[in-house]
Amino acid sequence: QRLIIAVDGPSGSGKSSVCRAVAGQLGAAYLDTGAMYRAATWYCLAQGVDLDDEQAVAVAVEELPLKISTDPEHQVVMVGSTDVTGAIRETRISERVSEIATNRPARALLISAQRRLIDESGYIVAEGRDITTVVAPDAQVRVLLTASAEARLRRRGLQLGGTETAEALKRQVIDRDTRDSTASNFTEAADGVAVLDSSDLTFQETVDTLIQRVHQ
Ligand code: CDP
Repeated sequence: QRLIIAVDGPSGSGKSSVCRAVAGQLGAAYLDTGAMYRAATWYCLAQGVDLDDEQAVAVAVEELPLKISTDPEHQVVMVGSTDVTGAIRETRISERVSEIATNRPARALLISAQRRLIDESGYIVAEGRDITTVVAPDAQVRVLLTASAEARLRRRGLQLGGTETAEALKRQVIDRDTRDSTASNFTEAADGVAVLDSSDLTFQETVDTLIQRVHQ
């Protein structure tokens, strides 16, 4: 059976946890493409690459020894023999990931890798910013998972365990959305993409709604 479920959404829309749960319940694989951009950022910084140097970044991403698991129950991201699963979530990475995401050659390389992973799996929930439009526009299920700015900030705060002030969080989420070239048009879904607004839904309601769409 070949079934690709493509989900896009902005920061804090809850798409990662929702998609992981959906994949788990369906028995499908799961691909977090954001983790790939984060791992690429981690690697460039570890290699001392100047992120403004487009060519240097492209070379680094080309040689990036990335291994990402597609098991929704066991998410591990490896760069070479280093487990970066936790490190790629650090603020120092979040602050700089947009620089990699807007680097054209790096993007093209990561998109090819994503298509390969999706292809190899065949039954997968893939989530990111451009999955429904660029990476897998021919996916059978295409969903834009949105949430109001308020709901996104609230969830972000919960997710980070209240270790950062609301103001800093707000700045982080909004700044990154602004920097992300792909995040600019999340208010409208592309043709054929269903919008799922989770602002007033609980986590489980959002998961159930997405699963219903898959079964439609
Ligand atoms: O933490 P959050 O859920 O906001 O983002 P993420 O899914 O971990 O992705 C991190 C960053 O990678 C985003 O802010 C984008 O800059 C970039 N990204 C992208 O450009 N395209 C994708 N398909 C996925 C992520």
